[in-house]
Amino acid sequence: MAGATNGGGNGGGGGSGGKLISLPLQYFCILAAVVVAVMVLSLALTSPAAMVAVRQNLGSVSAAAGNSTSGAGEEKEKEKEPEQRRPPVVLFNFGDSNSDTGGVAAASGIRIMPPEGRTYFGRPTGRLSDGRVIIDFFCESLNTHELNPYLKGVGSDYSNGVNFAMAGSTATHGASDYSLNVQIDQFVYFKHRSLELFERGLKGPVSKEGFENALYMMDIGHNDMVGVAHTPSDQWDKKISEVVAEIRKAMGILYDNGARKFWIHGTGALGCLPAVAVREKGEHDKHGCLVSVNKAAQAFNKKLSDLCDDMRFFLKNTTIVYTDMFAIKYGFVANHTKYGIGWPLMVCCGNGGPPYNMDEGKHGCGDLCEPESKVLSWDGVHFTDFGSGLAAKLAMSGEYSKPRVTLASLVNGGSKNTSGS
Ligand SMILES: *[C@@H]1O[C@H](CO)[C@@H](O)[C@H](O)[C@H]1NC(C)=O
Ligand SMILES: *[C@@H]1O[C@H](CO)[C@@H](O)[C@H](O)[C@H]1NC(C)=O
Ligand SMILES: *[C@@H]1O[C@H](CO)[C@@H](O)[C@H](O)[C@H]1NC(C)=O
Ligand SMILES: *[C@@H]1O[C@H](CO)[C@@H](O)[C@H](O)[C@H]1NC(C)=O
Repeated sequence: MAGATNGGGNGGGGGSGGKLISLPLQYFCILAAVVVAVMVLSLALTSPAAMVAVRQNLGSVSAAAGNSTSGAGEEKEKEKEPEQRRPPVVLFNFGDSNSDTGGVAAASGIRIMPPEGRTYFGRPTGRLSDGRVIIDFFCESLNTHELNPYLKGVGSDYSNGVNFAMAGSTATHGASDYSLNVQIDQFVYFKHRSLELFERGLKGPVSKEGFENALYMMDIGHNDMVGVAHTPSDQWDKKISEVVAEIRKAMGILYDNGARKFWIHGTGALGCLPAVAVREKGEHDKHGCLVSVNKAAQAFNKKLSDLCDDMRFFLKNTTIVYTDMFAIKYGFVANHTKYGIGWPLMVCCGNGGPPYNMDEGKHGCGDLCEPESKVLSWDGVHFTDFGSGLAAKLAMSGEYSKPRVTLASLVNGGSKNTSGS
Protein backbone atom coordinates (compact mmCIF):
# COMPACT_ATOMS: atom_id res chain seq x y z
CA MET A 1 0.00 0.00 0.00
CA ALA A 2 2.74 2.40 0.92
CA GLY A 3 4.12 1.86 -2.54
CA ALA A 4 0.89 2.80 -4.16
CA THR A 5 0.47 5.91 -2.14
CA ASN A 6 3.99 7.22 -2.30
CA GLY A 7 4.85 6.05 -5.73
CA GLY A 8 2.47 8.14 -7.76
CA GLY A 9 4.72 11.14 -7.98
CA ASN A 10 2.70 12.48 -10.85
CA GLY A 11 5.77 14.10 -12.37
CA GLY A 12 5.04 17.67 -13.18
CA GLY A 13 2.44 17.98 -10.48
CA GLY A 14 4.92 19.69 -8.18
CA GLY A 15 3.82 20.51 -4.68
CA SER A 16 0.14 20.24 -5.32
CA GLY A 17 0.68 16.87 -6.96
CA GLY A 18 2.09 15.65 -3.68
CA LYS A 19 -1.03 16.77 -1.89
CA LEU A 20 -3.17 14.81 -4.25
CA ILE A 21 -1.30 11.66 -3.58
CA SER A 22 -1.30 12.01 0.15
CA LEU A 23 -5.02 12.63 0.50
CA PRO A 24 -6.33 9.08 0.53
CA LEU A 25 -4.03 7.97 3.32
CA GLN A 26 -5.25 10.73 5.53
CA TYR A 27 -8.85 9.88 5.32
CA PHE A 28 -8.72 6.20 4.99
CA CYS A 29 -5.98 5.46 7.41
CA ILE A 30 -8.44 3.28 9.23
CA LEU A 31 -10.00 1.53 6.32
CA ALA A 32 -8.54 -1.64 4.91
CA ALA A 33 -5.61 -1.32 2.58
CA VAL A 34 -7.78 -2.37 -0.30
CA VAL A 35 -10.04 0.55 0.27
CA VAL A 36 -7.12 2.92 0.32
CA ALA A 37 -6.00 1.51 -2.99
CA VAL A 38 -9.34 2.20 -4.57
CA MET A 39 -9.27 5.77 -3.38
CA VAL A 40 -5.74 6.41 -4.55
CA LEU A 41 -6.69 5.20 -7.95
CA SER A 42 -9.79 7.20 -8.30
CA LEU A 43 -8.24 10.42 -7.08
CA ALA A 44 -4.81 10.23 -8.62
CA LEU A 45 -5.98 9.15 -11.99
CA THR A 46 -6.02 12.29 -14.03
CA SER A 47 -2.88 14.02 -15.21
CA PRO A 48 -1.79 17.15 -13.35
CA ALA A 49 -2.68 19.18 -16.41
CA ALA A 50 -6.29 18.25 -15.91
CA MET A 51 -6.33 19.31 -12.30
CA VAL A 52 -9.01 21.74 -11.50
CA ALA A 53 -8.69 23.94 -8.49
CA VAL A 54 -11.48 23.32 -6.07
CA ARG A 55 -12.71 26.86 -6.09
CA GLN A 56 -16.25 26.42 -5.14
CA ASN A 57 -18.48 28.97 -6.66
CA LEU A 58 -21.25 28.74 -4.18
CA GLY A 59 -23.25 31.52 -5.67
CA SER A 60 -23.74 29.71 -8.92
CA VAL A 61 -24.36 26.37 -7.28
CA SER A 62 -27.04 27.57 -4.95
CA ALA A 63 -28.56 29.70 -7.65
CA ALA A 64 -28.77 26.71 -9.93
CA ALA A 65 -30.05 24.42 -7.21
CA GLY A 66 -32.50 26.92 -5.83
CA ASN A 67 -33.83 28.10 -9.16
CA SER A 68 -36.55 25.57 -9.59
CA THR A 69 -37.30 24.85 -5.97
CA SER A 70 -37.18 28.15 -4.16
CA GLY A 71 -39.41 29.97 -6.58
CA ALA A 72 -42.11 27.36 -6.27
CA GLY A 73 -41.57 27.06 -2.53
CA GLU A 74 -42.07 30.75 -1.91
CA GLU A 75 -45.27 30.81 -3.86
CA LYS A 76 -46.61 27.93 -1.85
CA GLU A 77 -45.56 29.69 1.30
CA LYS A 78 -47.59 32.72 0.36
CA GLU A 79 -50.67 30.66 -0.33
CA LYS A 80 -50.46 29.23 3.17
CA GLU A 81 -51.27 31.24 6.24
CA PRO A 82 -48.70 34.03 6.30
CA GLU A 83 -48.58 34.06 10.11
CA GLN A 84 -47.05 30.56 9.98
CA ARG A 85 -43.83 31.91 8.52
CA ARG A 86 -41.02 29.58 9.32
CA PRO A 87 -37.78 30.56 10.95
CA PRO A 88 -34.80 30.03 8.70
CA VAL A 89 -33.49 26.50 8.41
CA VAL A 90 -30.30 26.03 10.40
CA LEU A 91 -28.37 22.78 10.29
CA PHE A 92 -25.19 21.65 11.96
CA ASN A 93 -23.64 18.46 10.69
CA PHE A 94 -20.90 16.29 12.16
CA GLY A 95 -19.47 13.39 10.21
CA ASP A 96 -17.00 11.82 7.81
CA SER A 97 -16.67 11.59 4.04
CA ASN A 98 -20.29 10.53 3.68
CA SER A 99 -21.29 14.06 4.50
CA ASP A 100 -18.12 16.06 3.80
CA THR A 101 -19.04 18.85 1.39
CA GLY A 102 -15.45 19.93 0.82
CA GLY A 103 -13.98 20.24 4.31
CA VAL A 104 -10.89 18.11 3.93
CA ALA A 105 -10.14 19.55 0.51
CA ALA A 106 -10.29 23.07 1.95
CA ALA A 107 -8.44 22.29 5.17
CA SER A 108 -5.59 20.49 3.46
CA GLY A 109 -5.52 22.48 0.25
CA ILE A 110 -6.17 19.46 -1.88
CA ARG A 111 -7.17 19.82 -5.47
CA ILE A 112 -9.48 16.95 -6.09
CA MET A 113 -9.64 16.19 -9.78
CA PRO A 114 -12.30 15.29 -12.28
CA PRO A 115 -14.22 13.10 -12.74
CA GLU A 116 -15.13 13.85 -9.11
CA GLY A 117 -18.20 16.06 -9.23
CA ARG A 118 -18.87 15.42 -12.92
CA THR A 119 -22.50 14.31 -12.63
CA TYR A 120 -24.08 17.14 -10.69
CA PHE A 121 -21.79 20.09 -10.13
CA GLY A 122 -19.84 19.63 -13.30
CA ARG A 123 -16.57 20.16 -11.43
CA PRO A 124 -14.83 18.78 -8.35
CA THR A 125 -16.18 20.37 -5.18
CA GLY A 126 -14.22 18.46 -2.59
CA ARG A 127 -16.97 15.92 -2.17
CA LEU A 128 -15.82 12.35 -2.65
CA SER A 129 -18.51 11.64 -5.18
CA ASP A 130 -19.50 12.33 -8.75
CA GLY A 131 -22.11 14.69 -7.35
CA ARG A 132 -24.04 15.31 -4.19
CA VAL A 133 -23.82 13.64 -0.80
CA ILE A 134 -26.86 12.85 1.31
CA ILE A 135 -26.98 16.15 3.18
CA ASP A 136 -26.99 18.05 -0.11
CA PHE A 137 -30.30 16.40 -0.88
CA PHE A 138 -31.52 17.26 2.60
CA CYS A 139 -30.68 20.91 2.00
CA GLU A 140 -32.39 20.93 -1.37
CA SER A 141 -35.55 19.45 0.05
CA LEU A 142 -35.53 22.01 2.86
CA ASN A 143 -35.13 24.80 0.29
CA THR A 144 -31.85 25.95 1.72
CA HIS A 145 -28.47 26.22 0.07
CA GLU A 146 -25.79 23.63 0.53
CA LEU A 147 -24.14 23.44 3.91
CA ASN A 148 -20.68 24.99 3.78
CA PRO A 149 -17.69 23.33 5.39
CA TYR A 150 -16.46 24.98 8.58
CA LEU A 151 -12.92 25.17 7.28
CA LYS A 152 -13.72 26.54 3.86
CA GLY A 153 -12.85 30.18 4.13
CA VAL A 154 -13.49 31.27 0.58
CA GLY A 155 -17.08 32.00 -0.33
CA SER A 156 -18.71 30.28 2.63
CA ASP A 157 -22.12 31.40 3.84
CA TYR A 158 -22.98 30.03 7.27
CA SER A 159 -26.40 31.60 7.62
CA ASN A 160 -28.04 28.16 7.30
CA GLY A 161 -25.53 26.44 9.57
CA VAL A 162 -22.21 24.72 9.25
CA ASN A 163 -20.89 21.41 8.08
CA PHE A 164 -18.17 20.16 10.41
CA ALA A 165 -17.88 16.79 8.65
CA MET A 166 -14.42 15.88 7.44
CA ALA A 167 -13.56 12.89 5.30
CA GLY A 168 -11.75 10.21 7.25
CA SER A 169 -13.08 11.33 10.59
CA THR A 170 -13.77 8.95 13.41
CA ALA A 171 -15.95 9.20 16.45
CA THR A 172 -12.96 7.83 18.33
CA HIS A 173 -11.07 10.64 19.98
CA GLY A 174 -7.70 11.19 18.33
CA ALA A 175 -7.97 8.41 15.77
CA SER A 176 -8.27 11.03 13.05
CA ASP A 177 -7.33 14.69 12.79
CA TYR A 178 -10.90 15.89 12.97
CA SER A 179 -12.42 13.27 15.22
CA LEU A 180 -15.88 14.02 16.57
CA ASN A 181 -14.61 15.76 19.70
CA VAL A 182 -12.69 18.23 17.53
CA GLN A 183 -15.74 18.87 15.37
CA ILE A 184 -17.76 19.54 18.53
CA ASP A 185 -15.10 21.93 19.83
CA GLN A 186 -15.25 23.72 16.51
CA PHE A 187 -19.01 24.01 16.84
CA VAL A 188 -18.71 25.54 20.32
CA TYR A 189 -16.12 27.96 19.01
CA PHE A 190 -18.36 28.87 16.09
CA LYS A 191 -21.32 29.40 18.38
CA HIS A 192 -19.43 31.70 20.71
CA ARG A 193 -18.02 33.78 17.86
CA SER A 194 -21.40 34.03 16.18
CA LEU A 195 -23.20 35.13 19.35
CA GLU A 196 -20.38 37.49 20.21
CA LEU A 197 -21.00 39.32 16.94
CA PHE A 198 -24.66 39.78 17.84
CA GLU A 199 -23.69 41.02 21.31
CA ARG A 200 -21.53 43.64 19.65
CA GLY A 201 -24.48 44.76 17.56
CA LEU A 202 -23.19 43.10 14.41
CA LYS A 203 -24.88 40.42 12.40
CA GLY A 204 -23.39 37.02 13.06
CA PRO A 205 -24.15 34.10 10.81
CA VAL A 206 -26.51 32.34 13.26
CA SER A 207 -28.51 33.97 16.06
CA LYS A 208 -29.36 32.59 19.50
CA GLU A 209 -32.77 31.52 18.19
CA GLY A 210 -31.08 29.99 15.20
CA PHE A 211 -28.97 27.78 17.45
CA GLU A 212 -31.99 26.83 19.55
CA ASN A 213 -34.16 25.84 16.61
CA ALA A 214 -31.35 24.23 14.64
CA LEU A 215 -31.13 20.59 13.70
CA TYR A 216 -27.99 18.82 14.89
CA MET A 217 -27.05 15.97 12.59
CA MET A 218 -24.49 13.21 12.99
CA ASP A 219 -23.34 10.70 10.42
CA ILE A 220 -20.21 9.18 11.83
CA GLY A 221 -18.77 5.83 12.83
CA HIS A 222 -18.02 4.31 9.42
CA ASN A 223 -14.29 4.63 9.78
CA ASP A 224 -14.40 3.44 13.38
CA MET A 225 -16.43 0.40 12.45
CA VAL A 226 -14.32 -0.65 9.49
CA GLY A 227 -11.45 -0.63 11.97
CA VAL A 228 -13.35 -2.56 14.62
CA ALA A 229 -14.60 -5.12 12.07
CA HIS A 230 -11.01 -6.11 11.41
CA THR A 231 -10.27 -6.91 15.05
CA PRO A 232 -11.19 -10.21 16.77
CA SER A 233 -14.93 -10.26 17.33
CA ASP A 234 -14.60 -10.86 21.07
CA GLN A 235 -13.27 -7.31 21.31
CA TRP A 236 -16.09 -5.71 19.39
CA ASP A 237 -18.46 -5.11 22.24
CA LYS A 238 -15.96 -3.13 24.26
CA LYS A 239 -14.66 -1.17 21.28
CA ILE A 240 -18.12 -0.35 19.99
CA SER A 241 -19.17 0.82 23.43
CA GLU A 242 -16.21 3.19 23.43
CA VAL A 243 -17.15 4.60 20.04
CA VAL A 244 -20.76 5.09 21.10
CA ALA A 245 -19.59 6.71 24.34
CA GLU A 246 -17.89 9.39 22.25
CA ILE A 247 -21.16 10.09 20.50
CA ARG A 248 -22.93 10.27 23.84
CA LYS A 249 -20.40 12.80 25.04
CA ALA A 250 -20.81 14.83 21.87
CA MET A 251 -24.60 14.89 22.18
CA GLY A 252 -24.29 15.98 25.79
CA ILE A 253 -22.06 18.90 24.88
CA LEU A 254 -24.42 19.96 22.11
CA TYR A 255 -27.33 19.73 24.51
CA ASP A 256 -25.53 21.88 27.06
CA ASN A 257 -25.08 24.35 24.25
CA GLY A 258 -28.78 24.48 23.58
CA ALA A 259 -29.28 21.75 20.97
CA ARG A 260 -32.76 20.24 21.18
CA LYS A 261 -33.27 18.54 17.83
CA PHE A 262 -30.98 15.71 16.84
CA TRP A 263 -30.91 13.67 13.65
CA ILE A 264 -28.55 10.71 14.00
CA HIS A 265 -27.61 8.29 11.23
CA GLY A 266 -26.43 4.76 11.86
CA THR A 267 -23.69 3.45 9.60
CA GLY A 268 -24.50 2.02 6.21
CA ALA A 269 -24.05 -1.59 5.16
CA LEU A 270 -20.26 -1.42 5.20
CA GLY A 271 -19.89 -5.07 4.19
CA CYS A 272 -21.72 -4.24 0.94
CA LEU A 273 -19.31 -1.49 -0.10
CA PRO A 274 -17.64 -2.88 -3.22
CA ALA A 275 -14.17 -2.15 -1.82
CA VAL A 276 -15.04 -4.49 1.04
CA ALA A 277 -17.47 -6.95 -0.53
CA VAL A 278 -15.50 -7.57 -3.70
CA ARG A 279 -11.96 -7.28 -2.41
CA GLU A 280 -12.00 -8.86 1.02
CA LYS A 281 -11.95 -12.54 1.82
CA GLY A 282 -14.37 -14.13 4.25
CA GLU A 283 -17.94 -15.30 4.40
CA HIS A 284 -20.25 -13.48 2.00
CA ASP A 285 -24.03 -13.49 2.23
CA LYS A 286 -26.38 -14.35 -0.60
CA HIS A 287 -26.22 -10.80 -1.90
CA GLY A 288 -22.43 -10.80 -1.97
CA CYS A 289 -21.84 -8.64 1.11
CA LEU A 290 -19.11 -9.44 3.62
CA VAL A 291 -20.87 -10.87 6.65
CA SER A 292 -18.38 -9.95 9.35
CA VAL A 293 -18.22 -6.26 8.46
CA ASN A 294 -21.98 -5.99 8.21
CA LYS A 295 -22.28 -7.65 11.61
CA ALA A 296 -19.97 -5.07 13.11
CA ALA A 297 -21.95 -2.26 11.49
CA GLN A 298 -25.19 -3.65 12.85
CA ALA A 299 -23.75 -4.15 16.32
CA PHE A 300 -22.71 -0.50 16.27
CA ASN A 301 -26.11 0.63 15.03
CA LYS A 302 -27.86 -1.30 17.77
CA LYS A 303 -25.82 0.44 20.43
CA LEU A 304 -26.29 3.79 18.73
CA SER A 305 -30.04 3.31 18.59
CA ASP A 306 -30.02 2.31 22.26
CA LEU A 307 -28.03 5.43 23.02
CA CYS A 308 -30.66 7.54 21.30
CA ASP A 309 -33.33 5.84 23.44
CA ASP A 310 -31.32 6.68 26.56
CA MET A 311 -30.73 10.23 25.51
CA ARG A 312 -34.41 10.84 24.89
CA PHE A 313 -34.82 10.12 28.56
CA PHE A 314 -31.82 12.00 29.90
CA LEU A 315 -31.87 15.06 27.69
CA LYS A 316 -35.11 16.83 28.50
CA ASN A 317 -37.21 18.53 25.86
CA THR A 318 -35.34 17.00 22.95
CA THR A 319 -36.38 15.22 19.82
CA ILE A 320 -33.79 12.64 18.91
CA VAL A 321 -34.33 10.81 15.65
CA TYR A 322 -32.24 7.77 14.86
CA THR A 323 -32.23 6.65 11.22
CA ASP A 324 -31.24 3.15 10.23
CA MET A 325 -28.98 3.78 7.25
CA PHE A 326 -27.97 0.13 7.29
CA ALA A 327 -31.50 -0.97 6.45
CA ILE A 328 -31.74 1.65 3.74
CA LYS A 329 -28.44 0.83 2.08
CA TYR A 330 -28.67 -2.93 2.54
CA GLY A 331 -32.08 -2.77 0.92
CA PHE A 332 -30.53 -1.21 -2.19
CA VAL A 333 -28.35 -4.28 -2.60
CA ALA A 334 -30.84 -6.93 -1.53
CA ASN A 335 -33.70 -5.40 -3.52
CA HIS A 336 -31.63 -3.83 -6.26
CA THR A 337 -34.00 -4.66 -9.10
CA LYS A 338 -36.72 -2.72 -7.32
CA TYR A 339 -34.55 0.38 -7.69
CA GLY A 340 -33.54 -0.39 -11.26
CA ILE A 341 -30.01 -1.22 -10.20
CA GLY A 342 -28.44 -3.91 -12.36
CA TRP A 343 -25.19 -4.53 -10.52
CA PRO A 344 -25.44 -3.51 -6.87
CA LEU A 345 -21.77 -4.19 -6.09
CA MET A 346 -20.37 -2.38 -9.10
CA VAL A 347 -18.34 0.79 -8.91
CA CYS A 348 -18.87 3.60 -11.37
CA CYS A 349 -15.25 4.71 -11.55
CA GLY A 350 -13.26 1.55 -12.20
CA ASN A 351 -12.07 -0.93 -14.75
CA GLY A 352 -13.35 -4.06 -16.42
CA GLY A 353 -17.10 -3.49 -16.51
CA PRO A 354 -19.83 -5.48 -14.78
CA PRO A 355 -20.43 -7.09 -12.43
CA TYR A 356 -17.91 -5.14 -10.31
CA ASN A 357 -15.88 -2.91 -12.62
CA MET A 358 -12.99 -3.56 -10.26
CA ASP A 359 -10.35 -5.42 -12.24
CA GLU A 360 -7.39 -6.35 -10.09
CA GLY A 361 -4.30 -4.27 -10.68
CA LYS A 362 -5.92 -1.64 -12.87
CA HIS A 363 -5.96 1.96 -11.76
CA GLY A 364 -8.28 4.86 -12.21
CA CYS A 365 -11.55 5.17 -14.06
CA GLY A 366 -10.70 3.33 -17.25
CA ASP A 367 -14.34 2.37 -17.40
CA LEU A 368 -16.45 5.20 -16.12
CA CYS A 369 -20.18 4.63 -16.00
CA GLU A 370 -22.54 7.02 -17.72
CA PRO A 371 -23.62 9.94 -15.51
CA GLU A 372 -27.24 8.84 -15.62
CA SER A 373 -26.59 5.16 -14.92
CA LYS A 374 -28.04 3.56 -11.83
CA VAL A 375 -24.82 2.64 -10.08
CA LEU A 376 -24.67 2.97 -6.31
CA SER A 377 -20.97 3.18 -5.65
CA TRP A 378 -18.77 5.88 -7.04
CA ASP A 379 -15.34 4.57 -6.08
CA GLY A 380 -15.93 1.45 -4.01
CA VAL A 381 -16.31 3.38 -0.78
CA HIS A 382 -18.46 6.41 -1.46
CA PHE A 383 -21.88 6.61 -2.99
CA THR A 384 -22.69 8.17 -6.33
CA ASP A 385 -25.01 11.13 -6.71
CA PHE A 386 -27.65 8.57 -7.71
CA GLY A 387 -27.05 6.39 -4.64
CA SER A 388 -26.99 9.30 -2.22
CA GLY A 389 -30.17 10.67 -3.73
CA LEU A 390 -31.96 7.38 -3.19
CA ALA A 391 -30.66 7.06 0.36
CA ALA A 392 -31.56 10.65 1.19
CA LYS A 393 -35.10 10.22 -0.01
CA LEU A 394 -35.69 7.19 2.21
CA ALA A 395 -33.90 8.75 5.17
CA MET A 396 -35.95 11.94 4.94
CA SER A 397 -39.18 9.98 4.75
CA GLY A 398 -38.89 8.86 8.36
CA GLU A 399 -39.84 5.32 7.41
CA TYR A 400 -36.51 4.04 8.66
CA SER A 401 -36.39 6.33 11.65
CA LYS A 402 -37.18 6.08 15.30
CA PRO A 403 -39.40 7.91 16.05
CA ARG A 404 -40.98 8.00 12.59
CA VAL A 405 -40.75 11.66 11.80
CA THR A 406 -39.81 13.21 8.52
CA LEU A 407 -36.79 15.41 8.31
CA ALA A 408 -38.95 18.34 7.22
CA SER A 409 -41.31 18.04 10.17
CA LEU A 410 -38.43 17.90 12.60
CA VAL A 411 -36.75 20.91 11.05
CA ASN A 412 -39.91 22.95 10.72
CA GLY A 413 -41.57 21.68 13.87
CA GLY A 414 -40.81 23.13 17.25
CA SER A 415 -41.03 26.47 15.51
CA LYS A 416 -43.75 27.78 17.79
CA ASN A 417 -41.53 30.74 18.43
CA THR A 418 -41.29 32.12 14.94
CA SER A 419 -40.11 35.48 13.82
CA GLY A 420 -43.68 36.72 14.11
CA SER A 421 -43.89 36.25 17.87
C1 LIG B 1 -34.15 28.81 -13.95
O1 LIG B 1 -35.52 28.90 -14.18
C2 LIG B 1 -35.84 29.45 -15.46
C3 LIG B 1 -37.33 29.66 -15.55
O2 LIG B 1 -38.03 28.70 -14.80
C4 LIG B 1 -35.30 28.54 -16.54
O3 LIG B 1 -35.57 29.05 -17.81
C5 LIG B 1 -33.80 28.39 -16.37
O4 LIG B 1 -33.28 27.47 -17.29
C6 LIG B 1 -33.47 27.92 -14.96
N1 LIG B 1 -32.05 27.94 -14.75
C7 LIG B 1 -31.41 26.94 -14.18
C8 LIG B 1 -29.96 27.16 -14.00
O5 LIG B 1 -31.97 25.93 -13.79
C1 LIG C 1 -38.64 21.69 29.25
O1 LIG C 1 -39.72 22.47 28.76
C2 LIG C 1 -40.61 22.91 29.76
C3 LIG C 1 -41.78 23.58 29.13
O2 LIG C 1 -41.37 24.44 28.07
C4 LIG C 1 -39.84 23.83 30.70
O3 LIG C 1 -40.68 24.26 31.72
C5 LIG C 1 -38.68 23.08 31.28
O4 LIG C 1 -37.90 23.95 32.05
C6 LIG C 1 -37.80 22.48 30.20
N1 LIG C 1 -36.80 21.66 30.79
C7 LIG C 1 -35.52 21.74 30.47
C8 LIG C 1 -34.61 20.83 31.18
O5 LIG C 1 -35.10 22.50 29.61
C1 LIG D 1 -36.97 -5.94 0.01
O1 LIG D 1 -38.25 -5.53 -0.40
C2 LIG D 1 -39.30 -6.22 0.26
C3 LIG D 1 -40.61 -5.79 -0.36
O2 LIG D 1 -40.67 -4.39 -0.46
C4 LIG D 1 -39.23 -5.95 1.74
O3 LIG D 1 -40.23 -6.65 2.40
C5 LIG D 1 -37.87 -6.36 2.26
O4 LIG D 1 -37.77 -6.01 3.61
C6 LIG D 1 -36.78 -5.71 1.48
N1 LIG D 1 -35.51 -6.23 1.92
C7 LIG D 1 -34.55 -5.46 2.39
C8 LIG D 1 -33.32 -6.15 2.82
O5 LIG D 1 -34.67 -4.25 2.49
C1 LIG E 1 -42.01 30.11 22.87
O1 LIG E 1 -43.01 31.09 22.96
C2 LIG E 1 -43.89 30.88 23.99
C3 LIG E 1 -44.94 31.97 23.95
O2 LIG E 1 -45.25 32.31 22.66
C4 LIG E 1 -43.15 30.89 25.33
O3 LIG E 1 -44.04 30.61 26.38
C5 LIG E 1 -42.07 29.83 25.31
O4 LIG E 1 -41.29 29.89 26.47
C6 LIG E 1 -41.17 30.01 24.11
N1 LIG E 1 -40.22 28.93 24.05
C7 LIG E 1 -38.97 29.10 23.78
C8 LIG E 1 -38.14 27.87 23.66
O5 LIG E 1 -38.47 30.19 23.57
